[in-house]
This record gives sequence, structure tokens and C-alpha cells, in this order.
Amino acid sequence: MDLNLEGKKVVVTGGSRGLGRAIAEQFLAEGAEVSTCARGEAGLAQALDEMRAAGGKVHGAALDVRDAAAFRTWIDQAGAEMNGIDILVSNVSTRLQGADEAWWRNSFETDFLQHARAAEQALPFLKKSDAPSIVFISSIAAVLTNLPPDELAYGVMKAGLVNYAGQLSARLSRDAIRVNVVSPGPIHFEGGTWDAIRQANPKLFEAAARLPQLGRHGTPKEVAKSAVFLASPASSYTTGVNLRIDGGAVKTANF
Ligand SMILES: NC(=O)c1ccc[n+]([C@@H]2O[C@H](COP(=O)([O-])OP(=O)(O)OC[C@H]3O[C@@H](n4cnc5c(N)ncnc54)[C@H](OP(=O)(O)O)[C@@H]3O)[C@@H](O)[C@H]2O)c1
Repeated sequence: MDLNLEGKKVVVTGGSRGLGRAIAEQFLAEGAEVSTCARGEAGLAQALDEMRAAGGKVHGAALDVRDAAAFRTWIDQAGAEMNGIDILVSNVSTRLQGADEAWWRNSFETDFLQHARAAEQALPFLKKSDAPSIVFISSIAAVLTNLPPDELAYGVMKAGLVNYAGQLSARLSRDAIRVNVVSPGPIHFEGGTWDAIRQANPKLFEAAARLPQLGRHGTPKEVAKSAVFLASPASSYTTGVNLRIDGGAVKTANF
């Protein structure tokens, strides 16, 4: 199946590693042009070098998405550099540790507000596209009530993101802009959250592997393939959806 992504202009936030990088690479493999960002300059530069060496047309800038002015400026620059934005994949998250009010505010900035900021800033570009769409990366943490204590704010913000995306899909339908959510379950990759847990707390890692019906962690590529399909013109009649990619971890009928 042709996803019709050849030449499409895509912004993926947080593409230097993990799910964001796998999503960026999948778009590049489909012939799209990608612009991405991350805070760490060295990690981003290495990721960009490797993606370019594989033949990808990819741009990137080091910045913190919590810096509203820098983030807005970068999205404008990405749109200008690529001559448009057809697709936004808003992926950045940082599982912040804490328990005080500063932690709540920081979590709000990182796991909610910057997503809304990204959508708002990309909107003028998306309105000019012939196949515009937005995908927000949430988490099954949005619906789980047995999260570890330090993931309390993370789950709350991810739940807010799902509601926000649903409302946005209704509002932007008049411009034919599709808005969807991907909610991954536990995803394991070298250097990622679950890799750190595997080393520090193998019992928790194994318990997480038993949570999905499929009995294992997922991979970034498994998330990327579904996310890229959902974002692509091949999925043109799908909007307002929250797609769980969790191996069946959330055991409820998904009406
Ligand atoms: N991994 C999982 O099991 C899992 C499960 C469910 C949902 N998710 C969701 O999937 C998405 C990606 O997760 P991941 O595990 O791939 O995360 P990750 O390994 O921590 O990668 C996050 C990416 O975002 C960048 N980033 C983080 N904070 C940033 C900031 N403030 N400003 C700019 N860039 C920033 C990181 O680079 P720098 O650190 O250099 O900035 C990196 O490129 C997140 O939304 C997460 O909530 C992941």
C-alpha cells in the first residue's frame, strides 16, 4: 500500500532517539522530508548524521520545547525551510520525577502545554496542505490508575492530551485537518526508560512485560509504523481516534 507520503513535509518533535526517532525514520523511508528537535545537541547531531547517511532529507535544531518563544520560532523556521508542513507528530515527553507543585507545573509544560503550542504554531502551515494531519503521542498511562507515584502527573497530563486532541479534531474538521492520538504501552529500546528500569528494577520490567496480552514490551518500530500510517493520507477517513499500540495492555473493549 502506498501511504502517499512522498515529498510530504513532516515535523516530529523529539526525534533524536526512541519513538520520535523511529517515527522520523519511518517517514523518511516513505520519502517524506522531516524536521525535528531535541535539547541535547550531540545526540541530535548524531541522529541527523545517521538519518542523512541513510538517504533521508532531514533537518533539526537543538532547543527546549518549554521555551515557548524558541519553540514557536523553530516551527516557523521548519515550515519555511521545508516550504510547508503537512504533518505534525508531537512526541516530546520527559517522565519528570517529583512530588511538589513545581513538578506539577513542569509536567504541565512538558506533557501538555507544549503539545498545544506545537499544534497552534503549525496550524497556518497545515491549513495550506492538501493532506494535513496531527498525531499526538500520549500513553496508556492516561487510563491506568496503578501507576508508580512519580508518574501521577505524567498520567494526568497524558489524559488531558487525549481530551485536547479529541476537541481539536472536531474544531479543525472544518479545515479538513485530521487529529489523532497514539497511546503506546511499554516500549523497550536501548537507552530508553524501560531499558533503565530493566537494569535498576528487573522485577518491574518483567511485570510490565506481563501486562500486555502479547506478553512482551513493544519496539519503537512497532509504534512508528502505526503512527506513520495514521498520520498519512492513506488514513484519510480517520480523525479523533486514540490508537492504543500496547500489545493489549489495556484490557477494555475500545469503543
Ligand atoms: N517509551 C515508552 O515505553 C513509552 C510508553 C508510552 C508512551 N510513550 C511516549 O512516547 C513519546 C516518546 O517516548 P520515548 O520513550 O521515545 O522518550 P525518550 O527516549 O525520552 O525521547 C524523548 C525525545 O524527546 C526529546 N526531548 C525530551 N524533552 C525535551 C524537551 N523539553 N525539549 C525538546 N526535546 C525534548 C529527547 O531528546 P533530549 O533529551 O536531548 O531533549 C528525545 O529526542 C513520549 O511522548 C512518551 O510519553 C513512551
